[in-house]
Amino acid sequence: MHRLCCLVWMVVTDVEATDISNPDLNYGLVVDCGSSGSRVFVYCWPQHNGNPHDLLDIRQMRDQHRKPVVMKIKPGISELATTPEKASDYIYPLLSFAAQHIPKSKHQETPLYILCTAGMRVLPESQQEAILEDLRTDIPVHFNFLFSDSHVEVISGKQEGVYAWIGINFVLGRFNHDEAVVEVQVPGGDQQETFVRKRTAGVLDMGGVSTQIAYEVPKTVSVASPQQEEVAKNLLAEFNLGCDAHRTEHVYRVYVSTFLGFGGNAARQRYEENLVSKTVLQNKLLGKHQGESAESPILDPCLPADLPDEVGPPEQRLHLRGTGDFALCRLLLQPFLNRTNDTQTSLNGIYQPPINYPNSQFYGFSEFYYCTEDVLRMGGDYNASSYAIAAKTYCATQWKTLKERFDRGLYASHADVHRLKYQCFKSAWMYEVFHSGFSFPTGYENLKTALLVYDKEVQWTLGAILYRTRFMPLRDIQQESLKGAHSHWRHSFPLMNTHYLFLACFLVVVLSIMLYVLRLRRIHRRAVFNRGASASVQWLEEGLGSQDLPVTL
Ligand SMILES: *[C@@H]1O[C@H](CO)[C@@H](O)[C@H](O)[C@H]1NC(C)=O
Ligand SMILES: *[C@@H]1O[C@H](CO)[C@@H](O)[C@H](O)[C@H]1NC(C)=O
Ligand SMILES: *[C@@H]1O[C@H](CO)[C@@H](O)[C@H](O)[C@H]1NC(C)=O
Repeated sequence: MHRLCCLVWMVVTDVEATDISNPDLNYGLVVDCGSSGSRVFVYCWPQHNGNPHDLLDIRQMRDQHRKPVVMKIKPGISELATTPEKASDYIYPLLSFAAQHIPKSKHQETPLYILCTAGMRVLPESQQEAILEDLRTDIPVHFNFLFSDSHVEVISGKQEGVYAWIGINFVLGRFNHDEAVVEVQVPGGDQQETFVRKRTAGVLDMGGVSTQIAYEVPKTVSVASPQQEEVAKNLLAEFNLGCDAHRTEHVYRVYVSTFLGFGGNAARQRYEENLVSKTVLQNKLLGKHQGESAESPILDPCLPADLPDEVGPPEQRLHLRGTGDFALCRLLLQPFLNRTNDTQTSLNGIYQPPINYPNSQFYGFSEFYYCTEDVLRMGGDYNASSYAIAAKTYCATQWKTLKERFDRGLYASHADVHRLKYQCFKSAWMYEVFHSGFSFPTGYENLKTALLVYDKEVQWTLGAILYRTRFMPLRDIQQESLKGAHSHWRHSFPLMNTHYLFLACFLVVVLSIMLYVLRLRRIHRRAVFNRGASASVQWLEEGLGSQDLPVTL
């Protein structure tokens, strides 16, 4: 079915410029208003393939130079907290940039979403509302996009995590239902339904400030205490990715948890603050002067051997010197994971539902990738023991040597001196977060560290637009079927020129092949799920006419 549709509807391949002359292409906009700036992403998709199980084939729009259509402005929208009336002026350049790329005739059917994250979340609600209200009022005056009040929102960290998870799994093709692997229990009152479908990938993302984990929890989870249950509820998201809300085989239950202060830089900062306060206290108690000069530095096992560094506020500057001891560094980092004794928890004692490690797969982004790839050149399939060996060797190498190698250009191009200095610390931190924090066994073989998924940078905005357009296929299918049912009968023959006739024949052939395949799939699905044929597939067939339509014509 899938392959067939590709032939018929000619899916635009990734690296091609978007064909704006194609009248069947649809467009959508997502503006990501983050803390440091705002970006607009333009997406496009061909007509839906008619299979109610498939999401729209959404991808990033590419200009004539094949570059994704993206524009970024600084600073973040939250800077307008006290001047909310400027919000629409602030957004204007992004939208007019997008408007220039999308054919004018398409504007009114192009949905526009403006979704705000971290920076806005911390503002008082009244200030948030004032900014959103300004956008809601002014944007429709200047732009003709499909836009309503609900299209402007401050989204939670959980939503953002879910969108990222959806975007990545979509690009990985995990929402196609052709190879079923995982048994899933779908929540829904007393009668638990069980499906078998593709295994989705979990996502690990360690940024500078926070670390996030998101993965599907296929089985209903039992939670030890009532308090835990409340926490668990807040960390689990249940949503239906199907185009028909009444059907449950596309319901996903995803755990998302974000840990502020557990990103690479924030962890280093916590560690340094602790080091400073400990040393200051010790110096006071014992009348020592450790760290106060470069001659008597504080020894830091988390810095490469003999790397000198300085920390602390100007009036309390302390001198460090690396000893490059990976094992000791890991040990020293343990307390910063804030683990508790409870086995059902991860970092900070936060609830974490069990992971079926042997039957799971995770992708690690940002620091997971930089730590393994930039210096160590081990990005891709993660192997804990070889990673630990390489990280240990790196830490123990003299700073002078590392610097020389760097100057000779031996490390990845985006590795800078900052990376070199903190690679030892961060590699130990990543190791501890992954194995001690999230409890992945050291023999875990299904972590891939990555910057891109299938050569594409995947933003959460892709998941956002997929999620928010998930009902569109149903509308398309409905419209198509109505068109199909009426147009064939209404057009009287004299009006038809050869052009139409040819098109009609072509359509008939395509339809009959599709119906045949649908039928096969239905039978196949019946076998897989051991359930009756799904209502909407039946309905689709009725809508399109019936399978003997070709004979009648
Ligand atoms: C870790 O736990 C300590 C003590 O409970 C707490 O003060 C600190 O804020 C926690 N750290 C983070 C990053 O949440
Ligand atoms: C964890 O367990 C150990 C021994 O089992 C105990 O000594 C320690 O106090 C416990 N820590 C917490 C935070 O409950
Ligand atoms: C992981 O690395 C270790 C040591 O380099 C090696 O012995 C082992 O075979 C590797 N495991 C896999 C699954 O490749």
